[in-house]
Amino acid sequence: MKLVTVVGARPQFIKAAMISREIAKYPEIEEIIIHTGQHFDKNMSDIFFEEMKIPLPHYNLKINSMNHGAMMGKMLECIEDILLYEKPDFLMVYGDTNSTLAGALAAKKLHIGVIHVEAGLRSFNMRMPEEINRVLTDRISDILCCPTKKSVENLKNEGFENLQCQVVKTGDVMQDAAWFYQDISGMKSQIICQLTLENKNFILCTIHRAENTDDLSRLSSIISALNEIAKEVDIILPLHPRTVKILEKNNLQIEFRVIPPVGYFDMIELLRKTTLVLTDSGGLQKEAFFFAKPCVTLRDETEWTELVECGFNRLAGTEKNKIIESYREMRKVKLNFNVNLYGNGDAAKNIIETILSVSDKLKLK
Ligand code: UD1
Ligand code: UDP
Repeated sequence: MKLVTVVGARPQFIKAAMISREIAKYPEIEEIIIHTGQHFDKNMSDIFFEEMKIPLPHYNLKINSMNHGAMMGKMLECIEDILLYEKPDFLMVYGDTNSTLAGALAAKKLHIGVIHVEAGLRSFNMRMPEEINRVLTDRISDILCCPTKKSVENLKNEGFENLQCQVVKTGDVMQDAAWFYQDISGMKSQIICQLTLENKNFILCTIHRAENTDDLSRLSSIISALNEIAKEVDIILPLHPRTVKILEKNNLQIEFRVIPPVGYFDMIELLRKTTLVLTDSGGLQKEAFFFAKPCVTLRDETEWTELVECGFNRLAGTEKNKIIESYREMRKVKLNFNVNLYGNGDAAKNIIETILSVSDKLKLK
């Protein structure tokens, strides 16, 4: 069976690492990897392939730094050409980026089976590019691999039971990755020592979502709150290039420690040693939970609602006082993280077994 997987952005490399590792156990599956090039800095892309030993992409389209229409249009055109040449049985996409939707759409128009990993998530905020990408990708997918109970329910509520597709609860590949790489990251990463953070309390922070970076009042308010919190505790902010550019352009001053984006192993070590996570990332909200750390989310809603319901995550939005208050409250809470929300670390196995059983039915092998 020939399977094309499409990746483009940082979180997708981590998911792809687990999927490629699983595929390697099945000689009957040939994986062709397309990197759209959406993320391209060394520490936003290559470092993940090197650290996690992801097979090098067969194609790198080098499509990045454009408006959404241009980026998606170019991706669609290039992925279609590759699909016409490779003639795969299935195409797999991950998450909710522009690379996800471009891959899914190119395949669907050619009647190639589409597999969506991380299906069914919803923030219900259609102003977010991620929500648009998720909803549309789900609608044209043939196999929808849902990470959580809630994501399956979301699809039911949207009538997916009446569509010709297969919805499967597989668990979350990010949980697989966190468990799989935690020991090796402890051995390989030097970040705690490099940043002289041994035995220090610090808060781990990330900011990159368009809804925050592209709205100056939201971004200013977040930075102002963080500058205030930094008077009480060290903050470490590995900063996405998108946010760097916007802060510089608007002359917004950060009064705590900003570092370049880090690789996944360093990120795991920072997560393990931090006291709390402050973020607008989707992935980081879950990783805070995987490493038993409370999280304050700098957004008005989240697609990982189970974390909020269980009290592991607080939605602070972007209002300065609300962020400071949420941080102070979450520092004090005592949480029992011994809850299974994201599966048993076997999501990649479940996904591949589902594809094989479907392809058996379709007699593709
Ligand atoms: C994208 C995803 C977002 C995801 C994030 C993961 C979309 C619509 N958004 O957002 O859902 O959370 O990836 O990190 O697909 N840039 C660099 N170097 C890089 C990568 C980006 O300088 O390696 C710059 C680009 O030139 C651009 C900006 O960052 O100016 C935004 O990049 P883009 O890929 O469009 O979106 P992200 O914000 O990364
Ligand atoms: N990540 C990383 N280094 C960083 C920032 C993030 O390795 O400097 C990892 C993070 O651990 C998570 C993934 O990248 O697994 C999430 O990426 P991001 O926050 O960019 O995207 P989102 O999850 O919001 O789509």
